[in-house]
Amino acid sequence: MLKLTQNAFFTGEISPLFTADIAEQTRQFHQQIEGYLPTPLISLEQLAARLGVKAILVKDESYRFGLNAFKVLGGSYALGKQLAEHLGVEISDIDLKTVAAKLPEPLVFATATAGNHGTGVAWAAREMGQKAVVYMPKGSAQASVERIKKLGAECIVTDCNYDDTVRIANQTAADNGWMLVQDTAWEGYDKIPTWISQGYMTMAVEAQEQAETMAMKPTHIMLQAGVGAMAGGILGYFADKLGADNFSTIIAEPRAADCIYRSGAAGDMVAVGGELNSIMAGLACGEPNPVTWPILKQCSTFFASVEDNVTATGMRVLGNPLAGDTPIISGESGALTLGLLYTLASSEKFAAERQQLGLDKDAVVMVFSTEGDTNPTRYRQIVWEGMLSTHA
Ligand SMILES: Cc1ncc(COP(=O)(O)O)c(C=O)c1O
Repeated sequence: MLKLTQNAFFTGEISPLFTADIAEQTRQFHQQIEGYLPTPLISLEQLAARLGVKAILVKDESYRFGLNAFKVLGGSYALGKQLAEHLGVEISDIDLKTVAAKLPEPLVFATATAGNHGTGVAWAAREMGQKAVVYMPKGSAQASVERIKKLGAECIVTDCNYDDTVRIANQTAADNGWMLVQDTAWEGYDKIPTWISQGYMTMAVEAQEQAETMAMKPTHIMLQAGVGAMAGGILGYFADKLGADNFSTIIAEPRAADCIYRSGAAGDMVAVGGELNSIMAGLACGEPNPVTWPILKQCSTFFASVEDNVTATGMRVLGNPLAGDTPIISGESGALTLGLLYTLASSEKFAAERQQLGLDKDAVVMVFSTEGDTNPTRYRQIVWEGMLSTHA
């Protein structure tokens, strides 16, 4: 059901790319976007009492700009930075509503996506009067294709997996003189992926401030990973803000695409190939992001490789809370960490892991529900019809 490994390569060294100061800049950029509101940080008090921890704080990203996922934070910041660079101005001088008038013709931004990143790029391109072309791997949810098209972008579904789809988007962008806005990096391509991960830090600044208002300080931060771009940005912020020695981090991934888990065990980047079959579409990525891998290696405490039924449990627990707790609609890639916390805390089978992680009555656990029901059909199958039940 789950495998856990302690990070033997932890140094606690922070990254100059992901600091609290940079996070403040990205937050200022997002604040000027029409409709910006911090997403809620929800304290599940009853569940915390049931699971024997002090607090469970859930950042609910289903509210982000009405797009049902956090991803737009990265895509929009990268587009803003790219336009600022193109025009030779600072990002703080970019006015999203008038920037298009400063260009002779719109720029074309291309990307590959499992769904949420492409939605964010399509939305940001539309907001800034630019164009987007979005590539998706085979088997992608039709709901995501339609959502992206509705935002005015061109959307093409390929016949290969996520990592190969990234290569197609890259090649087509190069052939056409488009700008590739990819949420992972490789040799020679790291500027835009860095901006994307920095954009995600807005979520962390908000969460930290909201926790502070509740007089809470996280002792455990649980982050799900695909390529690790999100986890790296969030962890980088908290390591700088709180000191990496002052909390534990658990990076969780689907078993079928556990490249960060394997990298964590090896102390160096390890790729996973093949079909990467998991219901966690946003996390089904087999190659770590080299921009964020160093901070994950330096500052994470644990890595977890987790089967699909654990996130299904997380979705059900969040959507059907104990009396007094707030319901949270969390999708397959959003609920993994809460599912993992629940699984670790509610079964005697995991008593040793619980102790190793320090999940006890003093633990303040922060998790990020990074998406809502972005695949509504699958959401109902899991939450209503009991698909992937642990007891089946
Ligand atoms: C909902 C959701 N959560 C988490 C992630 C993980 O992000 P990353 O690939 O940066 O690790 C993704 C990526 O698409 C996602 O869509």
